Amino acid sequence: MNKLFAANWKMHKTTAEARQSASELVGLVSGKLKAGREVMILPPFTALAPVVEALRGSAGFLVGAQNVYPQKQGAFTGEVSPGMLLDAGASFVLTGHSERRHVLGETDDLVGTKTAFGLESGLGVILCVGEKLGERKAGELKAVLERQIRAGLRDVPKDTPPARLVLAYEPVWAIGTGEVASPKDILEAHAFVRHMLAEIFGPSGSELRILYGGSVKPDNASEIIALDNVDGVLVGGASLKADEFSRIVLA
Ligand code: 13P
Repeated sequence: MNKLFAANWKMHKTTAEARQSASELVGLVSGKLKAGREVMILPPFTALAPVVEALRGSAGFLVGAQNVYPQKQGAFTGEVSPGMLLDAGASFVLTGHSERRHVLGETDDLVGTKTAFGLESGLGVILCVGEKLGERKAGELKAVLERQIRAGLRDVPKDTPPARLVLAYEPVWAIGTGEVASPKDILEAHAFVRHMLAEIFGPSGSELRILYGGSVKPDNASEIIALDNVDGVLVGGASLKADEFSRIVLA
């Protein structure tokens, strides 16, 4: 399976800034990307088209969206359908990101509906899970991950092609804080996610990618990427500057 280096730009960048960053990244990475690695940019909706344009023809680059609404079309003001994302050139979407869960109030149930609907509509999905600091301190890490994974994958067909479904473990306390999880924390959480995937999907659970996210930077990326059951990284802050993100991708 290819290692995935995903740049979640969150609510950053105008169309011009997005085009510039994506082009700069291609320039920095092209020809140097190690075999078995792929790069995904997840810009805000408004910058999908310029990023798709900037990456056109560059092998190993993908575009994803940060959110989707689980309906084909209709009276859902402010929402965007899977078909619209595919039309804009995105091939993946994030579901269950910590900011959607904890800032926007998305429930496990909605995350599960979005995940299944996204896949059914032809998108690949990166399902994010992760515990809050209080939950970790209360010894609830595995219970939280199990609840989020079971709900997130509730309606996902067991024969989903492994390349189209990615899990991302992002401990909430490590997102945007500079406090990266220790190798021991990452190994423990990823082993548990892998165990859950095997329980849900059987043998193909070993073929799904599990990304780590939370304060990934150029100086910690290579150590994280080398850990067991870490099949890539999901990067927020350090993905905004092409030069910084290129050092993660090439680490
Ligand atoms: P940071 O890399 O800024 O901690 O954000 C992680 C994240 O939320 C990626 O989805």
